[in-house]
Amino acid sequence: MPSITIDGKVCEYEPGQIILQIALDNEIEIPHYCYHPGLSIVANCRICLAEVWAPNPRNDNKLEPIPKLLPTCQTTAGEGQVVYTDSPKAIANQRLVMEYLLINHPVDCPVCDQAGECYLQDYSYQYGRGVSRFREQKLKQPKKDLGPNVLLYMDRCIMCTRCVRFTREVTGTNELIVDGRAANTQIDIFPGMALDNELSANVIDLCPVGALLDKDFLFQQRVWFLSKTPSIDGLTCSGDNISVEHNGGRIYRVRPRTNLEINQWWITDEVRYGWKVVHDDSRLTMPAVRGEEPFEPAEAPLAWEAAYARTGEALAAGHVGLMVSPMLSCEDAYLLARLVAEQTEQMTLAVGPVPRVGEDKTFPSGFTAYAEKAPNARGVRRVLEKFSANVIDYNTFVRRLSGGTDFATLVLTGNYPSDWVTDDFLAAIDSRTVILIDTLVTKLTDRAEVVIPAATWTEKSGTFENVNNRLQAFERAITPIDFCKGEAQIALDLTAAQAGETPTIYNPVATRQEMADVHDLKEFLTGVHLPAVTALIESDMQIVDV
Ligand code: SF4
Ligand code: FES
Repeated sequence: MPSITIDGKVCEYEPGQIILQIALDNEIEIPHYCYHPGLSIVANCRICLAEVWAPNPRNDNKLEPIPKLLPTCQTTAGEGQVVYTDSPKAIANQRLVMEYLLINHPVDCPVCDQAGECYLQDYSYQYGRGVSRFREQKLKQPKKDLGPNVLLYMDRCIMCTRCVRFTREVTGTNELIVDGRAANTQIDIFPGMALDNELSANVIDLCPVGALLDKDFLFQQRVWFLSKTPSIDGLTCSGDNISVEHNGGRIYRVRPRTNLEINQWWITDEVRYGWKVVHDDSRLTMPAVRGEEPFEPAEAPLAWEAAYARTGEALAAGHVGLMVSPMLSCEDAYLLARLVAEQTEQMTLAVGPVPRVGEDKTFPSGFTAYAEKAPNARGVRRVLEKFSANVIDYNTFVRRLSGGTDFATLVLTGNYPSDWVTDDFLAAIDSRTVILIDTLVTKLTDRAEVVIPAATWTEKSGTFENVNNRLQAFERAITPIDFCKGEAQIALDLTAAQAGETPTIYNPVATRQEMADVHDLKEFLTGVHLPAVTALIESDMQIVDV
């Protein structure tokens, strides 16, 4: 494999790779603004310029300096090159570029949402001069409302054009343009258009400075207060890798995690903003049992005890129909099916309704927004089939209910982001006993014998199988709100309550081990993709007593 040396480190590379990407792959930092691996290369910010020495074939391949600094984002590596990003010439360029980019910048970091994750801030500190020679009046640029999700603070823009290239190359929607010339150049929306496509909010993540901001996140939190938990899209079948960002038990935003095999660097706006249901006022928060007065928060243990006792009686009453929602994890499905299988020999297993909205849509970059609005229909079926050779789908389940199948008890799970219960389904249930494990108040809530409040996917951990049969684990971001519990924990509690034992605390790894050992679901031991662990970076911030 050919190699080059960057700042003293020998780095191997694939022919055709650019110097900047080789450096990044080898954990060598070269400052860059306009370069993004998902976009075309324009080399217009000039901060990545470095001094390059190359073997000269006309002089016995002796190393000779290339007279000009080269943009590392646009220069293909050549065997034996030696690159200096910290030579006096390279450093002088970095300082000049930083000074230039800050000429008209308002330096309003205290009120800017990007503060704390801004490359202007970081590079000023690492590569800037610390002083500006600019004494004139700064140019003032307008703020612009670009569309339903994005605001533009033009004063802060450094004209890297990442956002414009995104709408040209990734979405193909072309809403954004570069307008004007020289110092008056501005990013703008094409006349008569709004930045309103399925992927629009990705430009917020792409913007290396605080110019493009998220309306939904505006002034909500300082970013350094946010904890980030790796997760998976829990709303569609995409399996997109996401990061759930939260503080004090409350989610503030969801952003993409890079996974080149699935979502690359992007997510849809639907996935980005769909978490709102987690803090919805219509969440079920406390178990309820028909015939009992609603429980007060102080009576939570009593409420759970009553709900489990009534559920236990219902499970022992005869033929049980268990409908596992495709919104649940594989571990949830496994423990619920195991619970029912232990209580009765007469059971029917069904996969809940799998919502579809419109058609799949593939963008010019190859990114697909899926019509299937459930994260785990395939995983739930895969698990249930280990308990029954005849797992039925939702329509068949409804037909059997309407056809008078002698179900004594129905255990129904939901966890959908909106009311999923149709009048037909309600009618088909007829007078059967319903144990409802769900997240939102629906038409079924008043009808159920027992209502058990479940946790959303951000409040529990587990595994989803996406549309391409990829199993991916996700972690719990926040503790369940109020008195909710994950379905896996509910199943474990019920199992223990039936046996008169102390409940086990749900452990996704132990559950997957059991799934592999007892039910031959070996793929849950060897085939689950875990989130990449990123090393914590020690802060170099000094705490000063005041
Ligand atoms: S708005 Fe942001 S992403 Fe767009 S050109 Fe300006 S700095 Fe770059
Ligand atoms: S990153 Fe190379 S010129 Fe902008």
